[in-house]
Amino acid sequence: MVGKITRAYEREVKEGDVKMASPKFGMSILFFFLCISFCSSTDQSFQQCFSSHLPPSNITYDVIFTQDSSQYSSILQSSIRNLRFSNASKPRYLVTPYNEDHIQATIICSKEHHMHVRVRSGGHDYEGLSYISDVPFIVIDLFHIRSVMVDIKNEYAWVGAGATLGELYYSISAKSNVHGFPAGSCPTVGVGGHISGGGFGTIFRKYGLAADNVIDAKMIDVNGNVLDRKSMGEDLFWAIRGGGGASFGVIFSWKLKLVRVPPTVTVFKTVKSLEQGATKLVQKWQNIAYKFHHDLFVHAVIQVTNPNSNQNPTVQVSFDCLFLGTTERLLSSIQRSFPELGVTQENCTEMSWIQSVLYFAGYSIAESADVLLNRTTQSTQSFKGKSDYVKEAIPKTGLEGLFKMVVEEETSVLILTPYGGRMKQIKSSATPFPYRSEYLYGIQYMISWDVAEETGKRIGWMRRLYKYMEPYVSTAPRAAYFNYRDLDLGRNSYPNTSYVESSEWGLKYFNHNFNRLVRVKTLADPHNFFWNEQSIPVLRLE
Ligand code: FDA
Repeated sequence: MVGKITRAYEREVKEGDVKMASPKFGMSILFFFLCISFCSSTDQSFQQCFSSHLPPSNITYDVIFTQDSSQYSSILQSSIRNLRFSNASKPRYLVTPYNEDHIQATIICSKEHHMHVRVRSGGHDYEGLSYISDVPFIVIDLFHIRSVMVDIKNEYAWVGAGATLGELYYSISAKSNVHGFPAGSCPTVGVGGHISGGGFGTIFRKYGLAADNVIDAKMIDVNGNVLDRKSMGEDLFWAIRGGGGASFGVIFSWKLKLVRVPPTVTVFKTVKSLEQGATKLVQKWQNIAYKFHHDLFVHAVIQVTNPNSNQNPTVQVSFDCLFLGTTERLLSSIQRSFPELGVTQENCTEMSWIQSVLYFAGYSIAESADVLLNRTTQSTQSFKGKSDYVKEAIPKTGLEGLFKMVVEEETSVLILTPYGGRMKQIKSSATPFPYRSEYLYGIQYMISWDVAEETGKRIGWMRRLYKYMEPYVSTAPRAAYFNYRDLDLGRNSYPNTSYVESSEWGLKYFNHNFNRLVRVKTLADPHNFFWNEQSIPVLRLE
């Protein structure tokens, strides 16, 4: 089989834009039109199929919601985080499983009914791929699959894929004040999408990505089998830790290695405008932040200030720090390495790790950690994001041009995240996330807006900014972060996906790991059932 795949891979590359294996739901468009007249009988047939694949003890009636159901709309809207997609095409069914059996039955019946499947955990996908599709589809929403079992003695946790990061952090902190987990800052992000796409946060310089700290996983594959690490094998287990789960199956739960955090951590925030010398500070930050001690994380957030006042808008840069230790240790390090920032004892606040989670999520540290359990935070805005990686510090002129562009759009935000530390020590092929030792920092570009009519203008600005940055960021490939999904980088055709076509975006996200992902996908899902606009393609085997 492996020899077959190697030959198929060589053939595709040689032939260029050769069509790849197409999803087995190739008749879906025709099906869609026929469906208009046969909807209710199809609904019945799908539900009958679903029930027939469950053990009698496991039949529940509030798992499948059709568009006629009174709860359909509220469930669908509950985790749409980007309003840009709130009026997009809607799924034919929403399936809200309570256990593995429900997911198995959904996969089997979706195949039988030629329905496409999207899987949603926290709904934060930047391009809405977990809940929109141009072909008839079903959404499996995992919000019931969110139990968190923490074992402090053995330092691990099993977490359901539908849990949020907030629920995970809360559950760990309820059992220990010296354990944590290295993942993102936004508490409503789902662990299903986040960990399968990488996942970084304020302690990743010490412990690596969330995906680097997965010990085991349960996943339902294209045949409805429930696999764990042993039964899926090391290749597939490798692929779902950074290559995106959606290409390979439905991740049910993760077993995570907990990490040690000190009882006291320290934060500070120093904000400087351009007039206060922010450009010089960013210049220096670029050359030192990736070399800081693993315990020290200082990211730089660039945004417009005075956007609505009488003063001219300008750019400000906020240097936000989390240090895994006390103020005394932090000051001795930062005053030596970055004295220009002028950090003093007064700027620093000591707290527990879970309070630092609240702090970076924008809550007051006086709040109860219970706020992290709130998963219903509804977005009221549309947004577009992009990403880049930087290998060599951007020169002063480059930064000045960047700031000029930022000031044009008052809702733009750029987050510069320093690499180095543990990220530098992990091999770039250890997981599908390849951007490790050579990178100084990553950039996230973000713009948001309220009014649908502004979409073209705002996205136009984002694309101009991305073009402007080209000479200053990584090339061949121009690296991008999979979890900041960007369909501007390219998309698979439907129903045929070509390797060459998908290399456009695949190499940017995964670099040299892309080809291994393609090989794993070809074995795990040879008929490309788990297709989406940026799913890993399947090689055509003869
Ligand atoms: P969602 O449910 O939309 O899923 C995203 C993708 O994963 C989809 O393709 C989906 O089908 C697939 N998927 C989800 N669950 C799956 C499952 N169980 N099995 C198989 N496939 C599954 N990132 C970061 O690294 N650090 C950070 O600090 C942040 N912060 C942040 C804040 C905000 C406000 C947003 C909107 C996003 C971030 N992110 C981030 C990016 C985030 O990590 C990324 O969007 C994740 O994919 C979101 O995962 P969700 O489960 O929430 O999304």
